[in-house]
Amino acid sequence: PQNVGILAMDVYFPASYVAQEELEEHDGVSKGKYTIGLGQDRLAFCTDLEDVISMSLTVVKSLLEKYGIAPERIGRLEVGSETVIDKSKAIKTSLMQLFEESGNGDIEGVDSTNACYGGTAALQNSLNWVESSAWDGRYAIVVAADSAVYAEGAARPTGGAGAVAMLIGPDAPIVFERKLTGTHMSNVYDFYKPNLASEYPVVDGKLSQTCYLQALDLCYQRFCKKYEKTVGKPFTVSDASYVVCHAPYNKLVQKSYARLVYNDFTRNASFVGEDAAAKLEPFATLTPADSLVNRDLEKVSQQVAKKQYDEKVGPTTMLPKELGNMYCASLYAGLATLVHNKASSLDGKRILMFSYGSGLASSLFSCKFVEGEKLSEIADKMSIASKLESRIQVTPKEFVDTMHLMETRYGAKDFIPVSSKSTLRPGTFFITQVDALYRRSYDRY
Ligand code: ACO
Repeated sequence: PQNVGILAMDVYFPASYVAQEELEEHDGVSKGKYTIGLGQDRLAFCTDLEDVISMSLTVVKSLLEKYGIAPERIGRLEVGSETVIDKSKAIKTSLMQLFEESGNGDIEGVDSTNACYGGTAALQNSLNWVESSAWDGRYAIVVAADSAVYAEGAARPTGGAGAVAMLIGPDAPIVFERKLTGTHMSNVYDFYKPNLASEYPVVDGKLSQTCYLQALDLCYQRFCKKYEKTVGKPFTVSDASYVVCHAPYNKLVQKSYARLVYNDFTRNASFVGEDAAAKLEPFATLTPADSLVNRDLEKVSQQVAKKQYDEKVGPTTMLPKELGNMYCASLYAGLATLVHNKASSLDGKRILMFSYGSGLASSLFSCKFVEGEKLSEIADKMSIASKLESRIQVTPKEFVDTMHLMETRYGAKDFIPVSSKSTLRPGTFFITQVDALYRRSYDRY
């Protein structure tokens, strides 16, 4: 099969949100800390009517319906998520209820988990399957979904929720350049979920920022090496029209792009142009470790990269800024945002994508867009603008109350959700009951 990649996409996010500006006031932090300091606008969250399974059900059902895909045509279904509801039963198995009526139980794949990286692992598995001798000619579906919630404190405003579903197969309009992936994995404790009784992670915020940026450096260097070996010339950021990064919060994405420019500069000053090279010159001899913690370099490289950031990264940031960190779904919501914003002009262009999951697992890879008309169809079907318009704003107090309610729901049995169904858009799956044996039932609104 040729041109294996994404044939169709859909995005789902809960309707309820809290404004970061109001959260700043409620939390008693300085004005601008979340909106400018973290770069976030709004935060989407689940009530007790929704969980990672219902979000995944919603987005897969809607993908199948909108694109008219017969359930029998799916041969693989993979889920990437770190929202653990059950230590054994995969989210994937819950999604099989969507295939029951068609009689198609012949669908490979289960869940992949490592912080925000699971979606990328699921995608890699699915691309591998279609490219392999095991492929039977059917499509794969990749679901990346998470509800990201943090305990009260500095990390809470970096929560979010959402799900992305992608149809994978040959002759796709979004094609992955499989040979070029740069990967870095290592053993660190920057963000992890050792307390199985709580949905909240243990997080070392500062360490996680440094690990993220260092992983970006290493992935980019490995990507560039592979590119040079394959294509026969050096890679620089100017070889990519857009860059999509996993977005824990937008400020880190701004820093990431600046970091790529700094990497180009350290490889060869002529890669970044005279003006930028002159501004970065004072930082030329820093060791990689020192460069990661140098605040002056951080400021100067962001200034140098600002215009390019606006052009190459800006068009990918809307959903992550509107919804917050969606963990596994974050990177793919960035891709969806780009298709939403630029579908008609993406033909022939290359983008870089950076996936980071704490712990850690990370990859930087690229894809190319072909067949502009198909991209416009995807943009149209995702209807991101109308989904955003139909949201419901709640107060920080209601948000905090919901977080308290959700703490009692995590790992609980024998309950019926109490939140109002008025927060659900038509077509949304929701929990009807968790019974005395922890079995979950869902219905569609
Ligand atoms: N106006 C404008 N900017 C402000 C203001 C203000 N009033 N107040 C603070 N800022 C800026 C700070 O200068 C800082 O910006 P800088 O990094 O460019 O210097 C930024 O806002 C954040 O302020 P901090 O004091 O660094 O924030 P804090 O330490 O309280 O929390 C953190 C930030 C660590 C990101 C926290 O939210 C967290 O732990 N989040 C979860 C972990 C995370 O997302 N890690 C990223 C990778 S791992 C993953 O994806 C989960």
